[in-house]
Amino acid sequence: MFIMSSNSCHANGVSQKPFDGLIRQVAQAADAFQHSQNEADRLAALQAAQKLVEVFQKPQDAVYNLAYSPTQVMCVRIAMDLGIFSTLSERNGPVTLEDLAATKGADLVLTERVLRILAGIGYVAEHDVRVYIPTKMTRQMTDRLSGAVVRFIFDIGMPTLAKVPEFLRMTNFRNPSGAQNGALQYAEKTEMSLWDWVPTKPGFLDVCNTFMEADRGSRPSWLEWFPVKERIIDGFKEGESNVLLVDIAGGRGHDLVAFQSKFSEVPGRLILEDLPHVVAEATQHPKIEHVSFDLFKAQPIQGARTYYMKFILHDWSDEESRLILSHLGAAMKKGYSKLIIEEFVLADKECAMLPAMWDWEMLIFCNSMERTASQWMKVLDSAGFKIVKFWAPPGDGQSIIEAELK
Ligand SMILES: C[S@@+](CC[C@H](N)C(=O)[O-])C[C@H]1O[C@@H](n2cnc3c(N)ncnc32)[C@H](O)[C@@H]1O
Repeated sequence: MFIMSSNSCHANGVSQKPFDGLIRQVAQAADAFQHSQNEADRLAALQAAQKLVEVFQKPQDAVYNLAYSPTQVMCVRIAMDLGIFSTLSERNGPVTLEDLAATKGADLVLTERVLRILAGIGYVAEHDVRVYIPTKMTRQMTDRLSGAVVRFIFDIGMPTLAKVPEFLRMTNFRNPSGAQNGALQYAEKTEMSLWDWVPTKPGFLDVCNTFMEADRGSRPSWLEWFPVKERIIDGFKEGESNVLLVDIAGGRGHDLVAFQSKFSEVPGRLILEDLPHVVAEATQHPKIEHVSFDLFKAQPIQGARTYYMKFILHDWSDEESRLILSHLGAAMKKGYSKLIIEEFVLADKECAMLPAMWDWEMLIFCNSMERTASQWMKVLDSAGFKIVKFWAPPGDGQSIIEAELK
């Protein structure tokens, strides 16, 4: 219980003063965001609000909440299978437990157990006893990309995540490195890398490729804040090369489609590269060419103005990255070609939670890691590249690392 007398120190050892200070900080941060509506102020307000929540949490209970938290994503995943989010969103009004369970012929008691958690985390709302209505999170979960995020991280990653501590004990806590000898191979009893293993599992390739489409979340695309015209387009010379941009390992081509639609009047070829089975499923677009390739073999497109790599080098160790970069470097024209890397740059202090968690997902899936600025400089420098500039994004999203041949 909180006792708010002026001269006392209570509530789990938290004194009244910092509590007051935190409320003031939340109010100020909320005010700043209301005026500016910018991403940095929104994140500062969110962080202040989260700190305030921590004050009300008893440490002992916080441990329970943390340890039990996987049950939340598990129930969201079950609810996707039960069609709870789509049923509630389509009906757009109160739906009884009986009706929700009937969608997939599920047991009533079991369905209620799922809904109890969903109501607790705001993924549905309770309209009445055993009658539910949709929330903004119910509707969000009908989004194709949000569904793929849960499926990829839960279905494909969770079995490995559960084995990571055991794997690290076994390897004496060395920082893992190398695409074929990590926690995924240990947990799934395979010698294949993620990229070879995923297509062997029914349904996984589509989930994986769709997750890649979703990997920016709500964070603004680089096309909205990076000066593409000044840094890339203005220096394009058709006499030098007719290729404006190569999206290296661009998945099914979502980033290139976005680029084309924003710069539809700009001359120059746009080329999507990826593994043959991924390119085979890529979006067809009259202005985008598809090329099957392997990161570890010679780069087939020579002398392009821009080589763009989003979330590629974070899949690979420094040693593997150097090999990838050496093939790329051999194809680039010094003084003309640019390398544009879109990746997280981890802060040395007070790193945002999303990239910090993403770093562990990299260990789970690829036995690799996100990098700090000095780690990026080291790997690029050792592969013959110089960094022109680290471009910081608005908010906590990926940076752009602009680089060229030394
Ligand atoms: C993390 S995803 C990033 C996809 C896309 N750039 C994006 O950000 O949405 C990594 C991509 O690398 C591709 N890839 C993996 N190994 C490869 C290889 N050896 N050669 C070419 N592409 C590869 C995968 O198929 C996948 O599309």
